Amino acid sequence: MVSSGRLCLLLLVVFLLGLHHSTGFWIVNVVFPPNAKSRIPSNSTPPLIIVPGKLGNRLEAKIDKPTLVHWMCYKRTDHWFPLWIDLNMFMPIGVDCWIDNIRLVYNRTTRQSSNSPGVQVRVPGFGQTYSIEFLDYNKLAGYFYTMVQHLVNIGYIRNETVRGAPYDWRLAPNENADYLTKLRDLVEEMYEKYQHPVYLLGHSMGSHYVLYFLNHQPQAWKDKYIRGFISLAAPWGGAVKVLRVMASGENDGIQVVSNIKIREEQRMTTTNPWMLPFEEVWPKDHVFISTPTFNYTNQDYKRFFSDISFEDGWDKWEDTKNLTGDLHPPGVEVWCMYGVGLPTPVTYIYNEEFPNVDPVDFVYADGDNTVDSHSMSLCKRWAGQQEKPVHVTEFRGLPHLDIVFNEKVLNQIQHILEGKSDAPEEIDVRNGTNL
Ligand SMILES: *[C@@H]1O[C@H](CO)[C@@H](O)[C@H](O)[C@H]1NC(C)=O
Ligand SMILES: *[C@@H]1O[C@H](CO)[C@@H](O)[C@H](O)[C@H]1NC(C)=O
Ligand SMILES: *[C@@H]1O[C@H](CO)[C@@H](O)[C@H](O)[C@H]1NC(C)=O
Ligand SMILES: *[C@@H]1O[C@H](CO)[C@@H](O)[C@H](O)[C@H]1NC(C)=O
Ligand SMILES: *[C@@H]1O[C@H](CO)[C@@H](O)[C@H](O)[C@H]1NC(C)=O
Repeated sequence: MVSSGRLCLLLLVVFLLGLHHSTGFWIVNVVFPPNAKSRIPSNSTPPLIIVPGKLGNRLEAKIDKPTLVHWMCYKRTDHWFPLWIDLNMFMPIGVDCWIDNIRLVYNRTTRQSSNSPGVQVRVPGFGQTYSIEFLDYNKLAGYFYTMVQHLVNIGYIRNETVRGAPYDWRLAPNENADYLTKLRDLVEEMYEKYQHPVYLLGHSMGSHYVLYFLNHQPQAWKDKYIRGFISLAAPWGGAVKVLRVMASGENDGIQVVSNIKIREEQRMTTTNPWMLPFEEVWPKDHVFISTPTFNYTNQDYKRFFSDISFEDGWDKWEDTKNLTGDLHPPGVEVWCMYGVGLPTPVTYIYNEEFPNVDPVDFVYADGDNTVDSHSMSLCKRWAGQQEKPVHVTEFRGLPHLDIVFNEKVLNQIQHILEGKSDAPEEIDVRNGTNL
């Protein structure tokens, strides 16, 4: 006899192993996380707060729903249960229940998002690290685990000198005001407790959250409380991939969930329109999506949303495009790191069945296989725009998600936290011991 919990776990493991050679979903990294090697402990452990990327921390839900999408879905629970990552999303009917629980409802009049009717969602573990280290309770889906363990090896203490600032990543900062207040309080608390200004570290969309946060604090506050901002793989000019995700979906290699199915969930979140390629950054004639009937540039977003039957997307984009769209400098010392040297789609080509099929072809540019390097390199412009130094390091051959656990990146982060500001312009990760 196998208990159903065990069975789910077993199925998950089978799926994950099956995926190992597919197109790099980050969960994969997770099954065999590389071990951080123990280093000589040091006393210099300035406080660090990690802001994860989209999908990068756990969410929990409690439900008492008026209607069900399928009779097999739960209608009511007395306890908080995992919503992300929820093992049900890997099951044929479970995925429908899951989407109906995690989706947001957007009201075009109030321009506000709310949870699916009868669903409460909370973010566990603010100020601790477990919610960003592993995304599931069985500790299969590791994310920041390797980095945090590396930091612990050099003298950091979990939940003390290194902490996570998880958030509801379905929402953009304009709908997450409470989070930004909590983040400010956490910075001040750690500053007082450890008597040292705090480092903020963001990954991917988390870096946009950090930028938005810093742009909304007075310079005097930043000078006092913030030692620096370490940004990993931030799509500063937006990400072309977001257009594909909204048009036809992207399961990131989870073969059991079809792209078109996962699209339902992906369209519900506000953060996807926020990360559309920013208007000023791309040439007006660059085609992001090419179909037999139309070529879509950044001048055609209204038509794009209309053609993919996702009109709310246009409103959500209008609500969020100015949040970090002007890339106002953060006003603190910055270490901007990202991967380069990997082919990354910058144009998706569809056949006449657009948007209900996967793209049939791609045009590539340089990047980290998820975001192009032009977008990620835009942090370079801050060098001339703020007094505090801006250091940019490109990691040749480093994929988007690997940046949170690659050993050369972790060594560079350690170097920064030990107070050594200098950063090389390029580090090649293709040679050496890591994978
Ligand atoms: C949107 O919000 C307005 C104002 O609160 C409300 O009157 C309207 O019913 C809402 N629309 C939907 C579809 O819920
Ligand atoms: C950090 O906090 C979590 C949740 O309270 C706890 O499970 C974990 O043991 C703590 N870690 C340490 C090292 O204290
Ligand atoms: C889209 O652009 C491609 C490449 O420039 C061109 O060959 C094609 O004719 C264009 N399609 C439309 C519908 O304008
Ligand atoms: C966004 O910024 C543009 C250009 O600075 C401005 O014209 C527009 O009114 C702003 N939109 C919102 C919603 O703030
Ligand atoms: C290792 O580095 C050298 C020079 O830095 C480069 O020529 C070579 O292609 C790299 N090897 C691999 C496997 O990428």
